[in-house]
Amino acid sequence: MEKVATAQEPFVGRNWVFRSLETWIADTGVPRFFLIAGAPGSGKTAFIRELEQCRSRDGENKVYPRLESAVSAVHFCTARRSTSIEPMTFVRSISKQLANCDEHFREALLQSSEGNMEIKVVQNVTTAHHVTGVYVNNIVLSGLSPRRAFTCAVVAPLQIMQANAPRVEPMLLVVDGLDESRSVESPSITDLLASTDDLPPWVKILVTSRPYDDLFADLLIQRTLSLSSSGTEQENAQDLLQYIRLRLGDSAHQRAAIDVEQAASVVAGRAAGNFLYAKLFLDDVEAGRLSLDSIDSLPTGLDAYFYQSVKRGVQSMDGAWSSSSGPVFGLLAVAREPLSQEQIQRVLTVPPSTLLQFLLTFAPLISRAATPNGAAVYALFHQSFRDFLRLRNLSTDANVTILNPYFLEVCQCHEGFLRYYLSQGVSGIDSEDIDDLACGIFRFISPKPAATARFLLWSQGAS
Ligand SMILES: Nc1ncnc2c1ncn2[C@@H]1O[C@H](COP(=O)(O)OP(=O)(O)OP(=O)(O)O)[C@@H](O)[C@H]1O
Ligand SMILES: [Mg+2]
Repeated sequence: MEKVATAQEPFVGRNWVFRSLETWIADTGVPRFFLIAGAPGSGKTAFIRELEQCRSRDGENKVYPRLESAVSAVHFCTARRSTSIEPMTFVRSISKQLANCDEHFREALLQSSEGNMEIKVVQNVTTAHHVTGVYVNNIVLSGLSPRRAFTCAVVAPLQIMQANAPRVEPMLLVVDGLDESRSVESPSITDLLASTDDLPPWVKILVTSRPYDDLFADLLIQRTLSLSSSGTEQENAQDLLQYIRLRLGDSAHQRAAIDVEQAASVVAGRAAGNFLYAKLFLDDVEAGRLSLDSIDSLPTGLDAYFYQSVKRGVQSMDGAWSSSSGPVFGLLAVAREPLSQEQIQRVLTVPPSTLLQFLLTFAPLISRAATPNGAAVYALFHQSFRDFLRLRNLSTDANVTILNPYFLEVCQCHEGFLRYYLSQGVSGIDSEDIDDLACGIFRFISPKPAATARFLLWSQGAS
């Protein structure tokens, strides 16, 4: 299959997943939901990104025509970006994408919109995906509850489409990382998806998640494919080998005259089938942080790889883990949005030079993005690394379990924020300040209503 990929991030394999989805989407008699499950770093998000890109291929270049043509809306849930897991963001994102890829949906949306809904339409945009002339710029849903908004902006227009003109072509909605939306109070994105019984039969929903059974209880998922179970071990192993071979085969490595086949098989074995492990190692080699000669001393499994990476970084940093890198990782591990250098410094009172050294040393484990006004903001690079920092025990290699020296106690990490707020002085605080404070807490700290309420009551008492 021809892949859509960038030079740095080649996408490899997964034809067996595409084939399964093509069969499911083409069959009108099968269940609405399809779940792609998989362990952390197994490649669920990478697959959905690829699927999303495939939909822009021209007709004759489509490899899985039914599937690629059906993809109509894709939403990525990332716990490290709290807005992405808020149900209202999800509703707006899905509704807007559907409106911009299907004129019948757009018309139905305009037909179904009620008092509190405002749809901003830009005319005569020729670049819009699948749409000539009209582009829905924004959907404002003020005053509606998430459930009502989902009904008005997604469910009702789809029902109107069905009533207007029966259709047979499937329409596919895709939600990646459903497990990451769990921290939101009800109704979560999963709760909204569970209320889709009344949708027309041609609406199909593909979700990805780590395998948490309780999450899917309400979704009536009857089709599942795992990227990391024993049932698909062989297919996954072949894909992983292909990926490692491809990256090892780059000219720089050819010059080093390594036995690509042999090296690929060692790395795949130590990665235990995990794509993220292989990617991190190959990035480390490419950046000169590790040498291919170190292959035989590679640990087994993703957490052991994180352990080694953090250990290397901590050794090269000035200052102990507990006073330098630990607190910054802790702050990033509980932040619900990426933070700027200034925000990190303000909350932790770390000197700028220490923070800079931290960001350089741990660059592979920190993602850097830019806000709309161009400021750099930082987050942990992957959800699985956040999980590693919350792991009390870990297996560093076959049959050896140790206490994780980089374990971070969540409430201690939250304390950084609280200390910062307290240091601003709580005397003379008024109800407006308290509202601001609550917003700050809920925005940056995982919701912990009881603890937060106690804190707010306490701070009120202190005023
Ligand atoms: N098929 C693939 N081809 C190339 N690279 C891949 C592929 N699958 C995964 N990767 C690489 O592995 C990394 C980790 O994969 P990904 O983030 O998709 O895992 P995940 O299953 O979504 O993990 P999580 O459960 O934590 O969300 C990707 O960023 C990408 O670099
Ligand atoms: Mg993911």
